[in-house]
Amino acid sequence: MNMPVIDESKLEAFVMRAMGDLAAGYGGIMITLGNKLGLYKTLAGAGPLSAAEVAKRSTCAERYVREWLNSQAASGYVDYHPASDTYELAPEQAMVLADDESPVFLPPAWQVPASMWFDEELSLEAFRTGKGVNWGEHDHRLQCGVAAFYRNGYRSSLVPEWLPALEGVVEKLEAGINVADVGCGHGHSTVLMAKAFPNSHFYGYDVHAPSLQESTQNAIKAGVTDHVEFQVAKAVDYPDKQYGLICFFDCLHDLGDPLAAAQYAAKVLAPDGAVLLVEPFANDRLEQNISTVGQLYYSASTCICCAHAISEGGTEVLGAQAGEARLAEVFCKAGFKHFRRAAETPFNLILEARR
Ligand SMILES: C[S@@+](CC[C@H](N)C(=O)[O-])C[C@H]1O[C@@H](n2cnc3c(N)ncnc32)[C@H](O)[C@@H]1O
Repeated sequence: MNMPVIDESKLEAFVMRAMGDLAAGYGGIMITLGNKLGLYKTLAGAGPLSAAEVAKRSTCAERYVREWLNSQAASGYVDYHPASDTYELAPEQAMVLADDESPVFLPPAWQVPASMWFDEELSLEAFRTGKGVNWGEHDHRLQCGVAAFYRNGYRSSLVPEWLPALEGVVEKLEAGINVADVGCGHGHSTVLMAKAFPNSHFYGYDVHAPSLQESTQNAIKAGVTDHVEFQVAKAVDYPDKQYGLICFFDCLHDLGDPLAAAQYAAKVLAPDGAVLLVEPFANDRLEQNISTVGQLYYSASTCICCAHAISEGGTEVLGAQAGEARLAEVFCKAGFKHFRRAAETPFNLILEARR
């Protein structure tokens, strides 16, 4: 047998890369602890603090807090000042770790890999049998993590940037139209739009009833229940209200039959209505998606998105890295004549389809 020739420097570089990923995995639980125990919030804006002070202010046990702070310093998540033996959260670190209103607040996103680990047996079984895993079968941290991950991006971009990027949609929303938010999950997108456009009526649809309970609570908290309704419905059977806008936020690629969903949207859309399709950012070819964003989305897609689409009978399992060309093909086949990229972020493609 020919022994492969090992390039030692390539091996060393790859081991370090894989170790970095492993360390990040260990770090995930540190981030979740820091978030849930209020440790990042204690550090935010406080200047340099000793471990004893962080423990006191967060009412946590000092020995644990010191070790956690050391893990954060080693990760570059807090700055350590050796002369004073103190720890400090820089404003940029605070935006990512302590400010739950910031568009780049990330700690809740760690609930998603937590659920993926928890559901490892479901994934093993799915690989061996080819069967699907439904969205609702997963550990509840999946639904909460996804909702929280996307919520802040929606909050910073949906009303100020994405809707104005669609042709004439803001004017119609201001005047008053029916809007469908298909696969709305916890309804953050629905509620944000409802807050901004009180003359329009918003209908959130999803097959996962527990998510809609969260949506209803979010609508109550935001005071928009007079023009928002949530209802259990599939992407192919929600009530026909000749919508001026139909939205699919991070959901079309999850559907077992995205073509049927696009065809149904064409049917229940007002003649001059628009479809807003928000999908995970992806280029059209795998070799263009070799990136951190691709690493994250292909992994989630394997255990969550493809698994759900297969659980729905999966005629066309797009996956979370479908790319604009394949998405355009779905809408073209469904009879839409116009399809374009209206905007993009590092994490999302924002697409507009019209008949
Ligand atoms: C990745 S989540 C996105 C949720 C939400 N739109 C967001 O952006 O946070 C996908 C959602 O699609 C819903 N879904 C899956 N299959 C569906 C179907 N056939 N019809 C309607 N909703 C569906 C799931 O229950 C889930 O809430």
